[in-house]
Amino acid sequence: MIRKLAIAAAFMFFAGAASAEDCAAITVEDAFDLDDAAIAGLYECLGAKMAEGYAAEGDEVGSTYRSWTASQTAGAVQGAHGKRILFTYANDIAAEQYLKFAEEGVDMPVGSVLAKESISISTKKKKARPGPLFIMTKVGTDEAPETDGWLYAGLQPNGKVMKVKQSFCHDCHISWESQDALAYPVEEYRVSQ
Ligand code: HEC
Repeated sequence: MIRKLAIAAAFMFFAGAASAEDCAAITVEDAFDLDDAAIAGLYECLGAKMAEGYAAEGDEVGSTYRSWTASQTAGAVQGAHGKRILFTYANDIAAEQYLKFAEEGVDMPVGSVLAKESISISTKKKKARPGPLFIMTKVGTDEAPETDGWLYAGLQPNGKVMKVKQSFCHDCHISWESQDALAYPVEEYRVSQ
């Protein structure tokens, strides 16, 4: 009886693993060719797993960001953060201003946090898998004078803290200086106010 159960459990495990693999498979040659249906399918496949992963080490942002305000209607591939599907959430302090997607004179309040989850696309391996959670926190210019008051951070898909070089992130984000270093999601996927 016990042996039968063990075999059944092993079978269920392998069946589960196989279907998880299949639903993360991709057929396109380029991440930019993923259409909305394919992206929705990958979210169905990996969405819960990625949130569990970011929360696995108890990180506060990693454990709570999914309850924040979604800034976009669906995940989208942008390009600057690698070939990844991106989806940004804004915490309560950030949401009102962030979701205006304003282009001039933006000054986010201290305490604003933006968390951007990602699904990495390997067209070589024909597979998608959870990518890092990218985080920006407005701490103010006293604490972060060299990055206009922003602290950049990241979590690996297993919830472990990533080593992040502040200048690496900010040197690119400062391209959007009049938007307080925020780049915003791809236009057609922004939540309309
Ligand atoms: C080569 C340019 C570039 C670099 C380097 C870069 N980013 Fe970004 N980042 C972007 C762009 C473009 C977006 C908007 C992409 C989207 O959501 O579609 C973005 C969006 C974000 C957002 C969502 C808030 C926003 O700007 O709208 C966070 C959080 C973020 N990046 C964190 C990081 C962190 C942390 C690093 C360093 C580890 C980093 N970024 C490095 C270009 C960059």
